[in-house]
Amino acid sequence: MVTESFLTLPQLELPSKGGSITVTAPSNIALVKYWGKSQGQIPRNASISFTLSNCFTKTTLGFTPFSEQSKAGQEMVNDLDDSNFEVFVDGLSKPDFAPKIATFFNRIEAYLPWIRSFQWRIDTENTFPHGSGIASSASGFAALAGALMELENSWSLDPLPPELWAQKTSFLARLGSGSASRSVLGPLMYWGTHPALPASSDLFACILDQEVHAVFIDYKDTILLVDQGEKEVSSTLGHNLMHDHPFANQRFDQAQDNLGKLLAVLACGDTHEFCRIVETEALSLHAMMMTSNPSYLLMKPNTLAIIEKVRIFRRANNVPVCFTLDAGANVHLLYPAKFTPQVMPWIQNELSGHCQAGQFIEDQVGQGVKKV
Ligand code: DP6
Repeated sequence: MVTESFLTLPQLELPSKGGSITVTAPSNIALVKYWGKSQGQIPRNASISFTLSNCFTKTTLGFTPFSEQSKAGQEMVNDLDDSNFEVFVDGLSKPDFAPKIATFFNRIEAYLPWIRSFQWRIDTENTFPHGSGIASSASGFAALAGALMELENSWSLDPLPPELWAQKTSFLARLGSGSASRSVLGPLMYWGTHPALPASSDLFACILDQEVHAVFIDYKDTILLVDQGEKEVSSTLGHNLMHDHPFANQRFDQAQDNLGKLLAVLACGDTHEFCRIVETEALSLHAMMMTSNPSYLLMKPNTLAIIEKVRIFRRANNVPVCFTLDAGANVHLLYPAKFTPQVMPWIQNELSGHCQAGQFIEDQVGQGVKKV
């Protein structure tokens, strides 16, 4: 599969009147992390994630066709910019989001050339609190790509079957944010070429269709909100720092190796080995940050306090609960649903005290983009 195949454009019957479409797309949590990329949003190693359920973005995409006259007056060689769209978050205009969306629109235009024929209104809201430190770019770009692809398929004379629809949606979402490529389907999605996954691609994520043990189908993710402030170093900057990183190649090899091992674990249901691999991945991600030039630290004292308590609780109770981290201070606690009666009181009594305002979000594995 090469980029060119996404350039094959369907025959469309574009509407002459305006309208809108609404979709939701969830966030995801990586088990093997994507950290480091090449030009064109190409990951340096394969990654795999649980698609989440309760943490999602809802996006309504409104479109108004440009009249023939105004279309004729438009200079077609111009880049798309905020004269082509408006962005609203929770009903409020957000012009500061425009540059990111403009970059996205320009990257996807070759694959959806009809976006030039409309004026767009993007209305978006997240179920998770603002500034909670939960990345909205994964769910946000998956929702936007999903909405555009829903429109394309509804106007197409030859709509894409679900598998190809998901592939192109993931391909487009990746051009907005790499991790967004993995939010299109669920419960598990991988992205990036890997020798053990013949269908894998650097261009889009795929649903893990090998045998997955029942224990992972309703896995829980309780997100402990340790620090709800703005990230001090953006993911974009973090990815860039992997270019001259002294341990980059070892890290990319480690991720490929961990993904291979995790595939076996996901099939056999060995939750203790799952904990080992997932925690190694989280700490390796942060080790990259701590050893880059310049170095930086996103974990907070409460992140470490929770990590220590997780390891003590797991040993003392033989409960396979483990932690993972994104590019931030919050801790994702992953555990099989059947242990909820043991894990939840412990979170409430022992861990919530390490969270900002005692806050945490209860989530679990989910299914991906949905049309509302
Ligand atoms: C730490 O997908 O946010 O969450 O492609 O630059 O938008 P861009 O980066 P982004 O990076 C996410 C990194 C991560 C790990 C992961 O989700 O795999």
